[in-house]
Amino acid sequence: MSLARAKSLTVLPAEDEAPVLRAIEPEPDRARVLVVDDDERNLLAIRTVLEDVADIVDAKSGEEALRHLLKDEFAVILLDVYMPGMDGYEVAQIIRGREQSKRIPIVFLSAVNKETEHLLRGYSMGAVDYVFKPVEPMVLRSKVSVFVDLYRMRREIQRKAREQEALLDANLRTTAELIRAEQELRLAEQRQAAIINSLPIVLYLEPIDRTPRRPAFVSGDLAAITGFTIADVEADPDIWEQRLHPEDRQRVIAAIQERRLTGKLSIEYRWQTANGEWKHFLDQAVLLPSDDGGPGEFAGTLLDITERKALETQLIQAQKMDAIGKLTGGIAHDFNNLLAAVLGGIGLIERRIELGEDQKKILGMTRHAAEQGSELVRRLLAFARRQKLQPASVALKDLSVRLNELLAHTLGGLVDLRWERMSGDWEAFVDETQLELALMNLAINARDAMPDGGTITISADQRQVGDGHPLNLAPGEYVTLTVTDTGEGIRPELLQQVMEPFFTTKQVGKGTGLGLSMVYGFARQSGGGVQIASELGKGTQVTLWLPRAPSGPAAKLLVKRSAVPAEPGRALRVLLVDDHEGVRTMTAAMLAELGHEVKAVRNGSSVLRTVKAEAERWDLLITDYAMPTISGSELLHQVRKQAPALKGLLITGYADPDSIGNRPEGIEILGKPFSLDQLREAIGRCVN
Ligand SMILES: Nc1ncnc2c1ncn2[C@@H]1O[C@H](COP(=O)(O)OP(=O)(O)OP(=O)(O)O)[C@@H](O)[C@H]1O
Ligand SMILES: [Mg+2]
Repeated sequence: MSLARAKSLTVLPAEDEAPVLRAIEPEPDRARVLVVDDDERNLLAIRTVLEDVADIVDAKSGEEALRHLLKDEFAVILLDVYMPGMDGYEVAQIIRGREQSKRIPIVFLSAVNKETEHLLRGYSMGAVDYVFKPVEPMVLRSKVSVFVDLYRMRREIQRKAREQEALLDANLRTTAELIRAEQELRLAEQRQAAIINSLPIVLYLEPIDRTPRRPAFVSGDLAAITGFTIADVEADPDIWEQRLHPEDRQRVIAAIQERRLTGKLSIEYRWQTANGEWKHFLDQAVLLPSDDGGPGEFAGTLLDITERKALETQLIQAQKMDAIGKLTGGIAHDFNNLLAAVLGGIGLIERRIELGEDQKKILGMTRHAAEQGSELVRRLLAFARRQKLQPASVALKDLSVRLNELLAHTLGGLVDLRWERMSGDWEAFVDETQLELALMNLAINARDAMPDGGTITISADQRQVGDGHPLNLAPGEYVTLTVTDTGEGIRPELLQQVMEPFFTTKQVGKGTGLGLSMVYGFARQSGGGVQIASELGKGTQVTLWLPRAPSGPAAKLLVKRSAVPAEPGRALRVLLVDDHEGVRTMTAAMLAELGHEVKAVRNGSSVLRTVKAEAERWDLLITDYAMPTISGSELLHQVRKQAPALKGLLITGYADPDSIGNRPEGIEILGKPFSLDQLREAIGRCVN
């Protein structure tokens, strides 16, 4: 069937895409009448009478009639009652029994029996009427016409119903489409809003001439970022200006006024949120012209950049600490040399010269001052991460037992000291003495912050660190030790500074400001870090992050404690090189004091020349590490080519073995300044 022939067309949207034309079945042009009679003449006669009323379909038997009924639809069936084979009653019964045909009116054609009994049987079989033979054309025509009309009307009603259904269907589909589109739009809006709400950002529209400034429209979670809703802002229009940080206010208000001229705004400022917290905002806007060419409105974003700012500050602080560390380290190193010479000299004078009581006293004071200087330098070197560390596995439980008594004594009766979670199975891999010193420092700081007494809690935890730790720690396992006090706390603006060397709030003579610097240097040099949190009036919490000690047999190898060295027991021939004259002279004198034969030279090339001339003569080369043209390590490498058996001792102000590059094997190290005994011990370690 082509669309052109279709009687009626309805436009329907397809389920998924664009609407398509869908045809409603056209009606057959004429109704059909099925005439069933075994007599050809009767068939012909009836056809002649009814031809112009409907299309006539003949069937000469009940079976043929049933076949037609399977294929076509009929307005009425004219059924002969008496037929050979299946008679009219039987045929009627089958027709009525089938769903498809049970509603087609049946008119019996009967020649003979007009008796009521027969008629009743016919009606009970489903007949609606009788026509008697010989057929009276007028009667037949009018009866059949009634059924044909009825049939047509029924078809028409059906068709209309179908059409209406199709229309309704189309309507429903269109409505469903609309609803779906609306839902999608709403969903998209919700998604957009969810994204904006999950970001630390607020989008706003703000009329250009609104004073005090406040937005007319806001999207994003204003309450989450500022703690205030748009209703709060409307109720108190001054809220924005009032909550600007006093140090930022003037600059920000000037920028807001200027934006009217430039049409642009991009400012950062601190702003106090509803809960009192100071946040950093980046406020950016551009001027949108209005439709009528008049003054428009600003479309802007308010971005919470507090976290970014904190990271920036952290980075700057880390860089600053690094720079101070380098500077301090350099100065401390030079002072170390000077103090080594002073202390060595004092030692020699004491040994060699007979002194009177007064002189002894003066020399004692000089030694005391030089030793204090050495202590200061040692602490500076600790901050600069250049102290000599001997890391080993430290069991925290034992540490707490050892320190408890010492601290209880130091802290005094007003302070309650508590240890928490110290029996975890992880051990820290650090220099134990330095760790004890660090904890002592932290505990003393805590005590000093609680002049009227309070509680100090030292607690341990086991922590796993992934990428991007705020302290820049390498990923891995760490043990943390946290010292918490209930003291006066540290002002937020000072938090960044307290670890810097010489920063102290204590009275002159009470604090050097090196305690936290040492703790910091020690933790960093050990591969960990320090975190400080504090709330004014509530207390301070300092956390040490320390690398976890490896467990298993490998750990045993790492845990090397310096064995007590034996005396060399004999006089050695020592070649000494140091570019610093004071240290060189003093060390040479000390070596002589110890009974050794010394040749002291000022640089590496002299050493090489001397060894080349008499390779066999020398037992030990003592060399400074940091020398201008060649490092002590490099010198030892070169000397060993000529005299492989020559023992070596490196003396260095950078006493951390890790800071010594390219260190030759089996070389001992001695940190400056050193005493006569320390020198003797180090030589003992070299030659035994
Ligand atoms: N637990 C704490 N509570 C309050 N303020 C502290 C605390 N710890 C450190 N501080 C502050 O940090 C400053 C620096 O501390 P740090 O330990 O480096 O030096 P210090 O204690 O002043 O002197 P030093 O430790 O050299 O004797 C202190 O002066 C103090 O203001
Ligand atoms: Mg201190």
